[in-house]
Amino acid sequence: MGAKASEFKVVDSFEMRIAGIESVDLELLHALSISVGWPHRSEDLQFLREFGRGYVALDEIGRLTGSAMWFPHGDNFATIGMVITSPRLQTNGTGRWLMEHVLAECEGRDLRLNATRAARRLYHALGFQPVRTIYQCQGIARRPTDLPALPEGTAVRRLGSEDLAAVAELDAKAFGVARTELIDKLLVQSAGYGLFRGGSLRAFALCRPFGKGHVVGPVVAEGDAEAIAVVQPHVAEHQDQFLRLDTPFETGAFAIFLSQSGLAVFDTVLAMSKPGNAGAAAVSAAAGPSLYGLVGHALG
Ligand SMILES: CC(C)(COP(=O)(O)OP(=O)(O)OC[C@H]1O[C@@H](n2cnc3c(N)ncnc32)[C@H](O)[C@@H]1OP(=O)(O)O)[C@@H](O)C(=O)NCCC(=O)NCCS
Repeated sequence: MGAKASEFKVVDSFEMRIAGIESVDLELLHALSISVGWPHRSEDLQFLREFGRGYVALDEIGRLTGSAMWFPHGDNFATIGMVITSPRLQTNGTGRWLMEHVLAECEGRDLRLNATRAARRLYHALGFQPVRTIYQCQGIARRPTDLPALPEGTAVRRLGSEDLAAVAELDAKAFGVARTELIDKLLVQSAGYGLFRGGSLRAFALCRPFGKGHVVGPVVAEGDAEAIAVVQPHVAEHQDQFLRLDTPFETGAFAIFLSQSGLAVFDTVLAMSKPGNAGAAAVSAAAGPSLYGLVGHALG
């Protein structure tokens, strides 16, 4: 994406200009995300804005008509999210224009994103390839009756700030790229449970306020039993409350556990990637820990 994208664009007879996402009022950004039916609270958008960078499109009188963001994880990798065009102006090229600005800024980085159905064609045209489906599971949490016993020789306990290094290391193995800064920020606002064997962290699940309730993620484990062991305490703590978890697992014991916990599949997105020339690792290898729950669609 070498060519510099234009700063101005005529969209449906409006002249749009591009601006940095930090320059707009948070409530305008919130209104834009509500206009496409997204559940984010202002606080969720503020968190994304503190961690990421990006652009907005504004019309002649300063109305916000689109956004696109990227989130750096180290120097060689980024995730992309918050790609929105105001419904009344969609299919006029604004999404592509905003994405061209993001891609120019991310040049050389390996990129990942989670595409809604509406956005797949756009990302495909920009060189992104499908990786796997992500299942957005959510609902009113209830404690499942039949829980498997903890894997032998393991114990689950609450995580604290002293566990940051171990959590970040395990997350990096599953995600394929270290995102210590993000994990550090998440630990501050999340409750976390870890599964330990002989003092070493084998699996963990964080849970924080998001959207209509709470979201469980990231979740990293080496198998369904471990994943269930670290997610189950969050389900119990949010009994009768809205809970969400985005997972690549459609079948198996973990998927059954989610559905028995009241978290039904609500929607899907398609994880897509675009290689830069940085050689950041691909999505988790066959062996070792896997990402059972995403931080969120924008953050991977
Ligand atoms: C996805 C979204 C950002 C696209 O924005 P947009 O301004 O409409 O996109 P563009 O007009 O630049 O269109 C980009 C491409 O997608 C195609 N496209 C756009 N809307 C489409 C639709 N409803 N059906 C099929 N193709 C569509 C366009 O034809 C264009 O293809 P081309 O470049 O090959 O001509 C917008 O639909 C949106 O905000 N949707 C709701 C929020 C969302 O799902 N965001 C994506 C998060 S991953």
